[in-house]
Amino acid sequence: MSKERIRNQALLSKVVSAEEAAAYIKDGMTVGTSGFTPAGYPKCVPLAVAKRAEAGEQIRLNLYTGASVGKELDGAWAKAGIINMRMPYQTNGDLRNLINSGDVKYQDVHLSQSGQQVREGFWGKIDVAIIEAVAITEDGGIIPSTSAGNSNVYVEMAEKVIIEVNTTQPLALEGMHDIYSPLNPPNRKVIPIEKSDDRIGTPYIPCDPSKIVAIVMCDIPDDCRPLGDIDEDSKKISGHLIDFLESEVKAGRLPENLLPLQSGVGSVANAVLAGINGSRFENLTSFTEVLQDSMLDLIDSGKIKTCSCTSVTLSPDGVKRFYDNIDFYKDKVIIRPQEISNNPEMARRLGVLTMNTAIEVDLYANVNSTHIMGTRLMNGLGGSGDFTRNGYMTFFTTVSTAKNGDISSIVPMVSHHDHTEHEVMIIVTEQGLADCRGTNPKQRAKKIIENCAHPDYRPMLQEYFDRAQKEQPNQHTPHLISEALSWHDRFNKTGSMKLK
Ligand code: COA
Repeated sequence: MSKERIRNQALLSKVVSAEEAAAYIKDGMTVGTSGFTPAGYPKCVPLAVAKRAEAGEQIRLNLYTGASVGKELDGAWAKAGIINMRMPYQTNGDLRNLINSGDVKYQDVHLSQSGQQVREGFWGKIDVAIIEAVAITEDGGIIPSTSAGNSNVYVEMAEKVIIEVNTTQPLALEGMHDIYSPLNPPNRKVIPIEKSDDRIGTPYIPCDPSKIVAIVMCDIPDDCRPLGDIDEDSKKISGHLIDFLESEVKAGRLPENLLPLQSGVGSVANAVLAGINGSRFENLTSFTEVLQDSMLDLIDSGKIKTCSCTSVTLSPDGVKRFYDNIDFYKDKVIIRPQEISNNPEMARRLGVLTMNTAIEVDLYANVNSTHIMGTRLMNGLGGSGDFTRNGYMTFFTTVSTAKNGDISSIVPMVSHHDHTEHEVMIIVTEQGLADCRGTNPKQRAKKIIENCAHPDYRPMLQEYFDRAQKEQPNQHTPHLISEALSWHDRFNKTGSMKLK
């Protein structure tokens, strides 16, 4: 066992097997873990807990994390029927089914707020924190691995702390983290970040060593997934967005090097960043949630000097590139707690350009990011609300149709509201872009139908809008409510939103 990984001599006696550490976790407990996306989450101890449940032990736990986590935690615990309450975000298929069936309770919480709500006591007592680390310092400080998430909060609040020292994560990650915990109101201070690359905290999570009850050496790597190729629609979305940024620079509303970029995850987000890498923009900055492969490209090309994030979530090729050149990336990546990376105060002060993905958008620029057909949870809000409510310019991207063209992503009224017309500024589909700033609802509807809807659905949307205006002549936001709601039923009844 490496003394470089566990630098506090007394803590060496706490090294146990995953099964022994898992014995601290008992039925009815609340467990807070590290992890944000399949990056930096504990693996060996959760698998050992799942094994106990699979062997017949009654065990139901509340699971709070940073965001989604990998298959060894959300996947294994969903399959073993362990999870009672889950927050604040997830992306696992089995867990999604259990949430939708009501077998798992889930609250979808703004990611920047989830940690502070735990610190404020809204989520009850945290019995055990399980934190993945690359090393433990002489004072018991925990050096996280590929994410920071809410780990600092769970360490602060938990009665007992279990650390998984992951030997697949290089020690060279040490120094990338910037851990800063705000105080609860009324004692909270200004977060002193004025530029996206300001460092304000410690490179480790402070932890009283007496709270550490077990340390497990783990050699299971992050469950990173390959990225799909960038498709034609994503390239078109990226093209519209970059042309628009160009025009905003020309109009003097953005500086030549733009403002800090925030981009969601997934193929469209990846395409947009790839497009920016191929654009003329230089000396860019980033204040985002997840560092993904396309951000590495921007760092490699020298277009971005530093990336502030809360997790490093790369494809297998990206991981190899990152670790092979970690000394180059070391001073260019800052991994912050999500309470800071997604903080409204920061997004507003820095003037972040936010780019997130919608499931559907309505004629008046309300956005649904979380519920298929208004009822079935997909993933959750993630950080999209943190950034959209507070960004300088807020973009939502979506392909104009889903399910091979059977569903229009532009609808009269969204079937679930996540982001409203009050904060959503610019809608981009492969068809074009609608700049909704400085518009009233009727002007917005015209732009969204003409620029963003798929040509197959434009006439239906236009017809709805014309009739709504005619039948509701004195309304600020014209709607034929029952018809707007029945729009989604067309798909449920006929398998297509188009009238047959
Ligand atoms: N109606 C019905 N289904 C739709 C739909 C619509 N308008 N739009 C998409 N879907 C379905 C797709 O068909 C797909 O279904 P499948 O899983 O059965 O194949 C599923 O929704 C996901 O769509 P996809 O096109 O693969 O989207 P994606 O991977 O780009 O994810 C979101 C899109 C919105 C689900 C995802 O970005 C998300 O969870 N966002 C919220 C969190 C967030 O913004 N995080 C980043 C913040 S920093």
